[in-house]
This record gives sequence, C-alpha cells and structure tokens, in this order.
Amino acid sequence: MKKKFVSMLLAAMMAGTMVAAVPVMAEESTEATTEATTEATANADLADKKVGVCIYQFSDNFMTLFRTELENYLVGLGFSKDNITIVDGVNDQATQSGQIDSFIADEVDVLIINPVNSSSASTITDKVVAAGIPLVYINREPDADEEARWEENGWNVTYVGCDARQSGTYQGELIADLGLDAIDKNGNGKVDYIMIEGDPENVDAQYRTEFSVKALEDAGFEVNELDDQVGNWDQATAQQLVANSLSQYGDDVEVVFCNNDAMALGALQSIEAAGRTVGEDIFLVGVDALSEALEDVIAGTMTGTVFNDHFSQSHSAADAAVRFLTGEGNDYYIGCDYVKVTQENAQDVLDMVK
Ligand code: GAL
Repeated sequence: MKKKFVSMLLAAMMAGTMVAAVPVMAEESTEATTEATTEATANADLADKKVGVCIYQFSDNFMTLFRTELENYLVGLGFSKDNITIVDGVNDQATQSGQIDSFIADEVDVLIINPVNSSSASTITDKVVAAGIPLVYINREPDADEEARWEENGWNVTYVGCDARQSGTYQGELIADLGLDAIDKNGNGKVDYIMIEGDPENVDAQYRTEFSVKALEDAGFEVNELDDQVGNWDQATAQQLVANSLSQYGDDVEVVFCNNDAMALGALQSIEAAGRTVGEDIFLVGVDALSEALEDVIAGTMTGTVFNDHFSQSHSAADAAVRFLTGEGNDYYIGCDYVKVTQENAQDVLDMVK
C-alpha cells in the first residue's frame, strides 16, 4: 500500500518537472509487481519460509533504510519475523561468505544478498545455486558476465537495483541548471569541481562519478576536476577529504559532487568550517535523499540530491523472492527509477520518506 502511495506521489511530483515519463513508467511497473505479488502470496505458505538477508555493512545509512523497509515489507507479505534473519557483513567479504555458508547449512528457502564485493558474486552464486537456493542480489550489481551466466544456465538468480547512470546524470543536471554565471565564481569559464567517490569497486560509485560530469559536458560546460578522492560512502571520511581539498584549492572549488548523501553531509561540515556558503559561493550535491540531506536542500545548504528509492527496491527484492518461492520465476534484472530532488520538491520527498 505504501509503495503504491509512494509511486503515485512521485508521479504527481514529477509531473511538473518535465520528466513525467519516468515515474509514470515506474508506477506502471509497480502496479504489475503488486498484482503479481498478491497472486503469489495467495499461493504460498510464506510464514514457514526461511529468508536469509546479507547486508554488506549495517552502519551504512542508506542500507539501514533499505533493510528496515525490507524486513517490514516481508512481514507484511506474510513471512514470520522469526524466520527472517538479517546479518551484517561488516564490510568484509570473508565474514559475509561465512554468513552465506551458515545460511546454506541452515537450509534457508531464499537468500537476499547485498554483496560486500560485487566481484565475489560468481563465487557466491556458484555455492548458492549448488545448494538449490534461489538468490536475489540487491544494491551492488554484479558485472554483465555474471548476470549473463544466470540467464544462460536458467538459474533462479536475479538483481534488483536502480541504474546508477541515471543518478549521476541527475546530479550533473542539478548543477547545470544553475547556469555558468552562477557557478563560475573564479571566472575561468569552467566548472571547477571536486569529486568524492563511494567504494570504487561499486558500480554506483563508478557511474555516478562518470555520469555527473558527463551531464555537465553534455549541457555544454567545460569542466575542471580539481580533486577526486575515495570517501567509501562515509560521512567522517568525506568531511576530512573535503577539508583537505578546500584548504588546497581554496575559493577555486565551485562544485562538490558526492556519490551519496552521507558524504555530502560530511562535505557540508567542512564547507561551513571553511567559511563558504552553499548556494552562494559553492554548490553541493549528493544521492539517496536521506532525511537530513533533504532538510539541507530545503534550507538551501545543499544544492540538491537524488532520491534512491529504498521502498521500491526493497519491495521488488521481496516480491522477487516470493516469485522464486512460488515457482513463478523472475527476470534476471529488475530495475527502478531515481528521482531528482531540488528545493522545490524536497519537502514532498521528506514527507514521503519520514
Ligand atoms: C548506494 C547508496 C550509498 C550506499 C551504497 C552501498 O546505492 O547510494 O549510500 O548505501 O549504495 O552499496
């Protein structure tokens, strides 16, 4: 129910922003998923099914929203809370691999895995498939070769996530929409930026880094990268990195791109500590639409963010798990859409995520 409400609200919000086609499509696919799930639920005795969920790291803000919603939604579908086990991989692949082995030994009925390293996906897939357990990957997309194997072998494996190219493009557009005159404080005719990346092995980090800058270039801007650092999705790390960049490049830093909001919040602390003012002499964007970041967008202390729809992704992952359990099966890739967030729609998004 909440999911339907979210989609409808997104469609209404976006209708006024020239990109109405995206949420309308999202709403259609949501409807289809909801119907499929209702049907699937009627056929399955979900209360007896054991679900194992591996999260790469509990301390990650976005994955905390994701796993909380996932658990609530699974219970809403009829799974028993006692049969849902969610474990913390503490950002260590060896730890997570041991957790997967335990789930296999425990004969769980389905696994939902947010891998620590997406490059470990083939090893994970091999052992889970060998154990005859269906597998839903979330959030960290395995590479194309790995996904091709699922299809070639007809395995019960799928990936649920959003296309990070879209989030990067939206970040670039948020800056491009300001116009060069507003951005180019040092008057060199270029957008001088620093980039704070998430985990470099993660395709979300790679694509957001690439496509945010590409969107600026596609809009006709000349860009100048002053600094590119790895903040590993972490607020405190980003705060330090941005403090360093600001002291090295000073007023030349016009834009700070962060691959997620947690790092943007860290960046903002350093921007303010350096006596700079977002919206006046520097611009800052993130991704995720964490509540705190949305409050900053409303206040003007962040230029914008991009809603990473944890409702849609967690519901789709749970729905996919149900379709494996009922024998219906799934496509090998289940996508969702990001939503661009500006000062104009930030309050609506905040009301929705709170
Ligand atoms: C991204 C999200 C980040 C972080 C990462 C973990 O989609 O934007 O904040 O949670 O996933 O893989």
